[in-house]
Amino acid sequence: MYFVANWKMFGNLKSLNTLDKVIKFSKSKEIKKGRLIYCPPYTLISSFYKKFKNCLIDLGAQNCHESDAYGSYTGFINSKMLKNIGANYVIIGHSENRKKGENDKLINLKIKSAIKAKLKVIFCIGETLSEKNKGKTKLILSKQIRLGLNKVQKKSNIFIAYEPIWSIGTGKILKNRDLDQIIKFIKYKFKGKLPKILYGGSVNTQNINDLKKISSLDGFLIGGASQNAKKFIDIVKKTYS
Ligand code: PGA
Repeated sequence: MYFVANWKMFGNLKSLNTLDKVIKFSKSKEIKKGRLIYCPPYTLISSFYKKFKNCLIDLGAQNCHESDAYGSYTGFINSKMLKNIGANYVIIGHSENRKKGENDKLINLKIKSAIKAKLKVIFCIGETLSEKNKGKTKLILSKQIRLGLNKVQKKSNIFIAYEPIWSIGTGKILKNRDLDQIIKFIKYKFKGKLPKILYGGSVNTQNINDLKKISSLDGFLIGGASQNAKKFIDIVKKTYS
């Protein structure tokens, strides 16, 4: 199982101290078969890399520019630069960025450039509350998958993160049965080699006891709860208990 910590726009150099607990946990038997991946803000990737040097915790970024070449794009960072400082993953298509104007076409370009730079992509998809209420969830997910992965060759490096937008940071979460059905629907969209599928949206130390029962899931993308080392560790422990 994969446990991806999405720190969003949180964290500073002081937060590095909180990682000691997680590093210790990552070296213990308690981690079982859990794989930890931290996606801090860009400013902390290098510092996290140094911290994680002697352990198996992996690193990712929360976005990248769509150009795989260097260029005059003030304020942006591309996938090559991320790879160069030790990131192996990148989150692309997060709803918080879609809301800021990233469309499926741009997301598709970003995914291609990330794959080219040999990053693994955590590709976020999900519907809004009004789309859900109109019964459009499957339609929306199909479109996001089709356009986002248009002409993407190396699908083995794609992780799909299903994040219902209405569930992010709200504490609201689908019933297991409904979530399982959506995960199976996403899998059905991929013929042949299935991508790993993560769930994201209000994952916490309580609801993990239910979520872990969904056998079609390969892990979780965790926002708020991942910023607290104890909670993050607890989520992993409970998944295996
Ligand atoms: P949340 O965020 O766990 O705080 O709901 C998840 C995400 O946005 O990736």
